[in-house]
Amino acid sequence: MSKSKKLRSSEWFNSDNKKMNFVHRSWLRNQGYPDDYFEGKPVIGICNTWSELTPCNGHLRQFAEIVKRGILEAGGFPMEFPVMSLGETIMRPTTMLFRNLASMDTEESIRANPLDGIVLLTGCDKTTPSTLMGACSVDLPTIVVPGGPMLSGRFRGEKIGSGSMNWMVKEKQKNEAFTDADFREAEVCLARSIGHCNTMGTASTMATMVEALGLTLPGFSSIPAADSRKKMFAQLSGRRIVEMVKEDLKLSKILTREAFENAIVTNSAVGGSTNLIVHLTAIAGRIGVDLKLEDFDTHGSKVPLLVNLKPSGKHLMEDFYYAGGLPVVLNRLKPLLHNEVITANGKSLGENYKDVACYDDDVISSLENPLKKEAGIAVLKGNLCMDGSVIKPSAASEHLMKHTGKAVVFETMEDYHDRIDDPDLDIDKDSVIVLKGVGPKGYPGMPEVGNVDLPEKLIMQGVKDMVRISDGRMSGTAGGTVILHVSPESTIGGNLAFVENGDLIELDVEARSLNLMISEQELAKRRSEWKVPESLAKRGYVKLYVDHVEQAHKGADFDFLVGGSGSKVERDSH
Ligand code: FES
Ligand code: MG
Repeated sequence: MSKSKKLRSSEWFNSDNKKMNFVHRSWLRNQGYPDDYFEGKPVIGICNTWSELTPCNGHLRQFAEIVKRGILEAGGFPMEFPVMSLGETIMRPTTMLFRNLASMDTEESIRANPLDGIVLLTGCDKTTPSTLMGACSVDLPTIVVPGGPMLSGRFRGEKIGSGSMNWMVKEKQKNEAFTDADFREAEVCLARSIGHCNTMGTASTMATMVEALGLTLPGFSSIPAADSRKKMFAQLSGRRIVEMVKEDLKLSKILTREAFENAIVTNSAVGGSTNLIVHLTAIAGRIGVDLKLEDFDTHGSKVPLLVNLKPSGKHLMEDFYYAGGLPVVLNRLKPLLHNEVITANGKSLGENYKDVACYDDDVISSLENPLKKEAGIAVLKGNLCMDGSVIKPSAASEHLMKHTGKAVVFETMEDYHDRIDDPDLDIDKDSVIVLKGVGPKGYPGMPEVGNVDLPEKLIMQGVKDMVRISDGRMSGTAGGTVILHVSPESTIGGNLAFVENGDLIELDVEARSLNLMISEQELAKRRSEWKVPESLAKRGYVKLYVDHVEQAHKGADFDFLVGGSGSKVERDSH
């Protein structure tokens, strides 16, 4: 480290205040660090989302040690710290409720400590956006180590993927016997190695996103967690972050508007999750890039689908890696990307992905011969979603893309569960299922319930898909003609609140419209008679969440968290 460039950590260890230096150094010395650790070595914070309650990140404790090897080799001083970890499958009521809390934990942990650069160890769905949001609000040099997907599952000869298997089991349960023993066997077949979901669900989408944003070493995101090359890349990331500190390659230098547009284009090409929308928007908000819901349609909807992975296609992340992984996609997308943007390794995106080979055209297709011509997310507007809603056409049914049907309304998730399989429910294949009260403030936490199951009696008749509308989200591993993120949500008096059974709803994806076919007068009358639903949030963090969470089209961040405060701390602790 040249003497001219002052490290942030030197304010703790080598400042003009000798007494403070003593305090800051002395207590750390109880870990056995030698003198020279405090004399100009960049201090690298390893922000670890490891937790036994987040099995997808269960290997990250070991990975932190590997990252440390790289940091030490490059002359840095590694300091690992834990942050709140969000385990998608276990946490109730939904991890999304805690994404902003984990981001606050990350932000404050970074800023308050003598750190010069950051490595984010992430994996499960929310652990990537939450930590990145927090890091953006501090804006130090930062690199991401994505934990990687699980190896492909195999159940009785059939290849199975995370999430997609859940839907398959549900269908099996409804149509034939699926015993407890079958369940137990399927469980372990599905999750046979370390890592996160192995489909292009939200975790793989987020890993893809960080690489497309330029925040990982090139080629890192698609490597399975159990592959030895994952560890090698973790070590190399440790080496690289030390250099990034020396180059002062901060997040804001990488996360330009162009980088965000690249992430949107890439997400379309890989058939990524709709959850990208709320997360990428929130990340952009933290770093000061004005990303609008419309940007996802403008930049993403015309992009062809190149990657044949579940839930949009048939393969799994392990196959994607063997086919060449994300580097092939970023290489093939060149005509659609901003290739000049700088990335974590100091090179441009275009340079990083210029020489790559594809080893399986069935897994990754070309721009000329894509799996689908237009794969991205469509943003709908209309009187049912004045600030927008979204649909993922690549996961929807062609015959429902232009559809008018009668609303069958469920006021809450509980109401849905109580009545959906009632044999007397007035519903047919052309009905539109409307679910209210599952938005950010309503549930609260905007859970992944938008892809509600169809009524059993219609499944028995062979109905495979129906139009479903809600203010909630959908799992990245799910599919169907599902309209999500309706904004404003019903709980704050968005027009979704005023839909009644039998109302006609008109969906036209090509025209980007979603409308409730009732008169302005009738709508006004219902609005005047409407009562605000009672909130479940009475105290504590959940109350803070409900009071401050923004609507889905703004990324569902807290109003007071948008933007950043930099890395400067005005006052010290003594
Ligand atoms: Fe963790 Fe899917 S449950 S990534
Ligand atoms: Mg999920």
